[in-house]
Amino acid sequence: MALTTELGRQPQLREVAGIPLQASTVDNWSQIQNFEAKPDDLLICTYPKSGTTWIQEIVDMIEQNGDMEKCQRAIIQHRHPFIEWARPPHPSGVEKARAMPSPRTLRTHLPTQLLPPSFWKNNCKFLYVARNAKDCMVSYYHFQRMNQMLPDPGTWEEYFETFISGKVCWGSWYDHVKGWWEMKDRYQILFLFYEDIKKDPKHEIQKVMQFMGKNLDETILDKIVQETSFEKMKENPMTNRSTVPKSILDQSISPFMRKGTVGDWKSHFTVAQNERFDKIYRKKMEGTSINFCMEL
Ligand code: A3P
Repeated sequence: MALTTELGRQPQLREVAGIPLQASTVDNWSQIQNFEAKPDDLLICTYPKSGTTWIQEIVDMIEQNGDMEKCQRAIIQHRHPFIEWARPPHPSGVEKARAMPSPRTLRTHLPTQLLPPSFWKNNCKFLYVARNAKDCMVSYYHFQRMNQMLPDPGTWEEYFETFISGKVCWGSWYDHVKGWWEMKDRYQILFLFYEDIKKDPKHEIQKVMQFMGKNLDETILDKIVQETSFEKMKENPMTNRSTVPKSILDQSISPFMRKGTVGDWKSHFTVAQNERFDKIYRKKMEGTSINFCMEL
């Protein structure tokens, strides 16, 4: 699947077991599949645009006991190696993870069936964040507009079709969320929702803290809530991707920290698209106990 745009953008997606991934990831696939997880690894797992950066900053703040200066030690992309990331000649995500001292916090967008098997074998802890599909689609659309490493999304109407058919990088939202949801009672998975973190950040951050086996006092918790707000993270060069060259992320097209709200889909979906989406959603998510309120 190759896309060429007027801008000359030619990023390639290639499939592994029917899941479209970046070509560089597929080229590095055997290294990724043979990755050796360790029992004390914590893996942050998300479908793209579900609040990965947000939960990463929350986890790091917890790990650093609320010390903001320590969280400023590196840009967020470098703090938690991205397992499937590969862009030779730079060290791959796997190589960065190997070089990292334990206990390690890593991240991935891989669906359960493509996860390196050692994560399951070692019974690692997984922190999954899900975001409602409609807002995810809107966020991913704007991200693909500005991310020169992903295919050009085309018009909103075209992207709507691409997204619902799961032809985006990392595959179908439905399968991803369902896959991780189904694993949640068999492994150590804390399953969170973007919308819950937005509604009651302190409560959700407390859950993360307990899951990580930490016990921080109220003042530190309040500080973490403040420092990980959308407004703060948008201004923070260590989280807002402002250090990434424009040739990769063109923030003049759309900022990485775009809106950070729940329900932005309402300003994008037509009534007809919404009706069609709801119908497909009900069918795809049939039989799961996951309860997303699509009217958010
Ligand atoms: P929008 O495009 O809807 O604004 P990811 O990190 O997985 O790529 O997700 C990016 C999305 O999470 C973007 O959504 C971004 O604005 C939002 N986001 C990042 N930090 C956030 C925060 N502190 N609070 C709320 N949303 C945040």
